[in-house]
Amino acid sequence: MSKNIILIGFMGVGKGRTARSLAAKTGRYTVDTDDLIETKVKMKIRDIFAEHGESYFRQLEQETADWLQKNVRQTIVSTGGGFFQVRNIRKLGRVVYLHSSVDGIFEAVMQHPKAKKKIKKRPLLQDLEKAKALFVHRLPLYRKVADVEISVEGREIDEVVAELMGSLKKK
Ligand code: S3P
Repeated sequence: MSKNIILIGFMGVGKGRTARSLAAKTGRYTVDTDDLIETKVKMKIRDIFAEHGESYFRQLEQETADWLQKNVRQTIVSTGGGFFQVRNIRKLGRVVYLHSSVDGIFEAVMQHPKAKKKIKKRPLLQDLEKAKALFVHRLPLYRKVADVEISVEGREIDEVVAELMGSLKKK
């Protein structure tokens, strides 16, 4: 496992949490593309969307992908839900798609103690019907770019991470 591990998947599926657990188990560092973007432009994601629009945010994601490709090795990278659309996604490392049904994702987000905050910070989660349509549109696209798919629905994080590490070893 010498390459970066890139975790992709829909909003709220648990990419950050999985990345932190995987980092702890492998002794690697982890970075998150939304955090890198927020730090670079000194703005929160929702303010970037509100003030500059989604296409500017996508441009920032592409710049981040270019930076990762050039500079980052042996790292666990958690990504924003739309990051997988960058041109060079497959050049960044092993791509792992974390899957859950959309209802499973919404349920988990709603049950979270900080549900309100989790929804508020995500511009594309404001309208649930639109978010569902986005999930349906993206599902085959996530699967197309991924090396590995891991189901996270209703599973303990340790089990997910163990399966992930096992399937990457086999590749
Ligand atoms: C987005 C997902 C968000 C964030 C932005 C756009 C998307 O990240 O990058 O709000 O297009 O799905 P999370 O997947 O961490 O919520």
